[in-house]
Amino acid sequence: MKMSGSLSFDQFTQFKEKLLQIISNERNFVANAGNFASLVYHNLSSISWAGFYFVSNQHLILGPFMGKVPCVRIKITEGVCGASVRTKKPIIVPDVHKFPGYIPCDPTANSELVLPVFYQGNVVGVFDLDSQLYNRFTENDAKNLSSLLKYVIDYSNVRPFLDYYEITS
Ligand code: SME
Repeated sequence: MKMSGSLSFDQFTQFKEKLLQIISNERNFVANAGNFASLVYHNLSSISWAGFYFVSNQHLILGPFMGKVPCVRIKITEGVCGASVRTKKPIIVPDVHKFPGYIPCDPTANSELVLPVFYQGNVVGVFDLDSQLYNRFTENDAKNLSSLLKYVIDYSNVRPFLDYYEITS
């Protein structure tokens, strides 16, 4: 069953249990990040794209994702993703066409939510969600998804991935 709009407490608990079942026995960060993107894409309603970008040399480079082929590299000075890295805060965009510097990687998107990905207190990337609906994302989504994202980081062996891809915060 798809979970519509903002997650209720029961839906959040259900999602969290499903996620922990999948990631709690696996330490590989790419595998866990990929499964997180898939769970979000397939279980939340009206999501057209969900995935990671990681910080490297003043750019964001595409990581595991679900959805159509997007931009591979984004300058840290640009887009909603860049703004989230610079401010270290989630950014909810009700109408992407009104966001200055918005990068239309997913041409069907009308609203967007970008969450910073923290590792040991530093922003190492973002998790980006797009929707064809306007005004799809709420503060509750940002809060819930950020806490779920933390499980992915905490259960995974993140350091080798960051070193291999020269990911800098
Ligand atoms: N729209 C984003 C770019 C990434 S895609 O939406 C997948 C931005 O403005 O940063």
